[in-house]
Amino acid sequence: MQGKTVAESAIHDQTSVVFPNDLNAYGTLFGGRVLDLCDRVAGVVAKRHSGKVCVTLGIDSVRFLAPARHGDILVMKASLNRVWKTSMEIGLKVFKEDFKTQERTHILSAYFTFVALDDHLKPVEIPPVIPMTLDEKRRFKEAEERRLTRLQNR
Ligand SMILES: CC(C)(COP(=O)(O)OP(=O)(O)OC[C@H]1O[C@@H](n2cnc3c(N)ncnc32)[C@H](O)[C@@H]1OP(=O)(O)O)[C@@H](O)C(=O)NCCC(=O)NCCS
Repeated sequence: MQGKTVAESAIHDQTSVVFPNDLNAYGTLFGGRVLDLCDRVAGVVAKRHSGKVCVTLGIDSVRFLAPARHGDILVMKASLNRVWKTSMEIGLKVFKEDFKTQERTHILSAYFTFVALDDHLKPVEIPPVIPMTLDEKRRFKEAEERRLTRLQNR
């Protein structure tokens, strides 16, 4: 099966805006809401790379690093770190952007594991990913260690 580069499926600048109905009782962005957005963005990377229906198997290492507030712009970045046989890891970061200064603050990181499915909803093989840049090669290597931990904790 022919491989695809990370760049072919990566998302660099998916934006959203924090509206009042995205907030928790303390007036900051609700964590469940931002994870919903992230799952959709990571799912697009998974589908673009595999060309298949993909389901979320797990989300781990979720870190809420800073709050976001009403009116903040959210910028989501997601890319494929590694493909195994039927599963793949996608790394995702969210930034909040101050629209007056364009200053960005990193507010969330997480890893998503997706499984590609065939027409009978059974796991199906995914094309390999070809890491090209130094960062892509580092993420590819580190993803294997994270997978081993996930499988050990299964
Ligand atoms: C995803 C799903 C199809 C996998 O089914 P399954 O019977 O566990 O399939 P398998 O055992 O063949 O595992 C599939 C892949 O997941 C990997 N996997 C399983 N458990 C894992 C874990 N805890 N961590 C990391 N990878 C795991 C397997 O190693 C395999 O990957 P590989 O082929 O690349 O080695 C099934 O668990 C499912 O339908 N889950 C619900 C998905 C869902 O509804 N998501 C929310 C909405 S999108």
